[in-house]
Order: sequence, then C-alpha cells, then structure tokens
Amino acid sequence: MAGVIPQKLWGGRFTEDIDPDFHNLNASIHIDKRLYAEDIQGSIAYARVLCKAKLISQEEMQTIKTAFKQVQGEWENNKFIINHEDEDVHSANERRLSELIGDIAKKLHTGRSRNDQTVTDTKLWLRKSIDKLLFRLKKFIEVLIARAEEDIDVLMPGYTHMQRAQPIRWSQWLLSYAWYAKQDLERLLEVRKRVNILPLGSGAIAGNPFAIDRQFLAMELGFDEITENSMHTVGDRDFAAEFLFWSSLSSMHLSRFCEDLIIYSTQEFNFVQFADKYSTGSSLMPQKRNPDCMELIRGKTGTIFGKCIGFMVTLKGIPSTYNKDLQEDKESLFYTYDTLYQMFHIAEKALATLKVNRKSCERALTSDMLATDMAYYLVNKGISFRESHHLVGKAVALAESKGIPLLELSVQQLKTISEVFEESISCIWNFNSSVDQYKIAGGTSFEAVQQQMNSLRCWLRNYSFKE
Ligand code: ARG
Repeated sequence: MAGVIPQKLWGGRFTEDIDPDFHNLNASIHIDKRLYAEDIQGSIAYARVLCKAKLISQEEMQTIKTAFKQVQGEWENNKFIINHEDEDVHSANERRLSELIGDIAKKLHTGRSRNDQTVTDTKLWLRKSIDKLLFRLKKFIEVLIARAEEDIDVLMPGYTHMQRAQPIRWSQWLLSYAWYAKQDLERLLEVRKRVNILPLGSGAIAGNPFAIDRQFLAMELGFDEITENSMHTVGDRDFAAEFLFWSSLSSMHLSRFCEDLIIYSTQEFNFVQFADKYSTGSSLMPQKRNPDCMELIRGKTGTIFGKCIGFMVTLKGIPSTYNKDLQEDKESLFYTYDTLYQMFHIAEKALATLKVNRKSCERALTSDMLATDMAYYLVNKGISFRESHHLVGKAVALAESKGIPLLELSVQQLKTISEVFEESISCIWNFNSSVDQYKIAGGTSFEAVQQQMNSLRCWLRNYSFKE
C-alpha cells in the first residue's frame, strides 16, 4: 500500500497520542459516513478545479477521480473498512485515497479545509433529501385531494373547541390539511434556495489563496450561487436550522391531522376506520384496534421539535466561524429527515386506505348545529345579526329546557321568542342546503370545495419531483 497516512490529518504538531476516550467523543465517522458519496462528489469537483487552476495535472486529476470511483464502490458494497484513525468521513476518504494512489492524494486538500468541506457535503446531502421530501409532500397532497373528491358528499360536524359547531363536508376538513401541506411545500422550496449556495472555496476561515474558480465548482456541483464571505460560510448552519424548523412546522401539521383522525377513529365518533395494515392490536385486550400509525407520527413530532431546539441551543453560544460544536448538525439533520420522510409516507398510505364511515358522520349531525342558520333566517327577515343571535340563543335554551332537539320547537313556541318566526323556518332543517350555502371562495359548499381541488391540482402541475 503506497503512501499510507499513519496519523491523523492534523497530527504533525503533536507528540502525544489522543486519549482514546476523547477520540471516541471527537469521532463522527459513525454518523457522517452517511455522507461518503457527497464527500467523494465534492472531492472530485475539487480535484477538477485544482486541475483547472493548474495545481494538479490532468493526469493526477484523472488518477484521483478513478481512485475515488473505487472508494465509492467500496462504500456501496459494504467493503470500505473504517480504521480506528478515521475521525470523520473526510479523513476516511482521504486516507483511503492515499492508500490507493499515494502522494497524489496529498495534493487534493490544497487550499481546502474540512471546515468548507463538511458544510459542502452537508448541503449536497440536504439538497438531495429536500428533493425527496418534496416528492413525498406532493404525493401526500395528491392523496388528500383524491380522497376529498371520493367522499365529497359526506357531511359531518365541524368542531371548534372540540364542540360541534357547524355542518361541513368531510372534504373541507381533509382539504384544510392540503392547504397546510401546500404552504409546507412552498416553504421547503424557499429553504432549498439557501441550502443550494456553494461553500467550497472558503478554506478554514480566510478563503482560498489559490486562484480556483468557485463558479466552476458551483456549476460542477449543481449549486445556484456561491457564498460571499468565508467566515460566514464556515460558521453558518442557518440552512440546517431552517430545515429543522421547517420539519418541526410541517410535522406539527401532520401531528394535528393525526390527532383529528385518532379522535375520529374512536368508537365514540366512529367516523373513520384505518385499514388493518395500519392498525395494531393489544396483547391483552382482543377487541382492540389501535391507531398506532397516527400516534407514532404525533409522538415523533415531539422528538423532531427537540432536534430543532437542541440544535438552536448548540448554535447560540458559539463564537464566529467554525467550532467543533457544529459537528452536531448532522445527527439532528439525519434523524429529522429519516423520521419525517417516513411520517409523510405512512400518513399518505394510511389516508389512501382509510374507510370513511358516512353513516356515523351524518348521524353525528344534530339540529343545534343549525342554530347559526336559524339566526341567518332571522337576518334575512330584517333583524340585525346580534339580535338574531340573542333570539336563537333563547330558542336553544327553550329546547334544552324541554329536553327536545331544536328542530322540534313548534312555530308557536318560536313565536313566543319572536313574532318573526314563520312556517318557512322548516326549510332550514336541512344539512345539505346548510353546507351548500357557503358558496363563497374557501367555503364548504360542493362548488367551493370543487374549486379548491381544482386550484390545488392546477398548482401541483407546476412541480415534478423524483423519489
Ligand atoms: N467532522 C467535522 C464536522 O463535521 C469536520 C470539520 C472538522 N474541522 C475541524 N477544524 N476540526 O464538523
């Protein structure tokens, strides 16, 4: 084996070996090895730019590139042997390159630092991961729309404060989450913009003293722009924090969606039933059917918040530029991405296979939920809304005191509250027409819901993402 680097990348000035316990704390290889492909991609691009600047020859560049292809193959086939000395993925790849091509490998790091290298690798990985999340998010929205269309005729109680409020379409509830997801998707595209700015070429802190072409590097690696301050570049993890916050926000939406469905799946509500594939049983109670898939999404949301907050706390105390604290970014990013990806995927599949129990939804509609419609009836007869509200409140109290549903109050009884009530009041006791009066943009009528689906579908057509 030619040119093995026996010591750490930074070992030259030290006479004592690192304490083995400190070595373990310091080493990040078992986490950042996941970046092996991005590290190689970044290194090959760096070799090209060195070649362009005539710091290495064309031949040397080719040698580096070919050797890296081999290293990549070793990682992919689980043949890469991590040495005890390999502190992180950058050291490991460079050490292996050295073993393969000797002294030429030692030229690769010219002007580069692990400080600009690590953030470049992380951005490359995050960009790819964001694209996968965009794909999942789009699919989730598509399923929300498809299910809204399928069950557009189902009416159910809409709740505020978890109390029956007004009748709504099931699809209006479902689509409310599509609108959250739409904004999540748009926000993620915003985050992606700031991820996609090239750090490489910033060196350790002061920049790169060799005339390397950073624009060329950006092009090679698919970045839209280059960073413009070396100190900012090596110390900046805002893009990671933004992603963690984005993940917190969008998982919170998923969590609320799941919480609704958990409630709707209780026997008390019985509005929905999850497919067997996404339900679990109890080891003790044979009758149980638990919505664990939803509970896990709700629960993991808490852990995702923790990663975001944890990393923010890591950031808050560090002085400018690179400090080793920043190494913590990867653990939070990896956990968050992996978990959120799964969460979106399971939410989508559980929703696609969910059974909506139309009868129970409609059985839960009660005439008191049309009290607002009763007030609108009075408004249409010329009474102010405040006064109407007050009069209907009295009618509700009267029905309650008689122990009968609101719609069973006779016109005579209603007339004791207001002379304005007439036989025509009977027209309001219809949930379908109640729902369909909300024709306004954003409302819960058939047309307005249809309009939402059209507009979401039209918007989605702008995007195609790869899995
Ligand atoms: N493993 C380190 C990280 O991910 C790489 C950068 C190390 N730089 C340094 N100056 N020690 O942050």
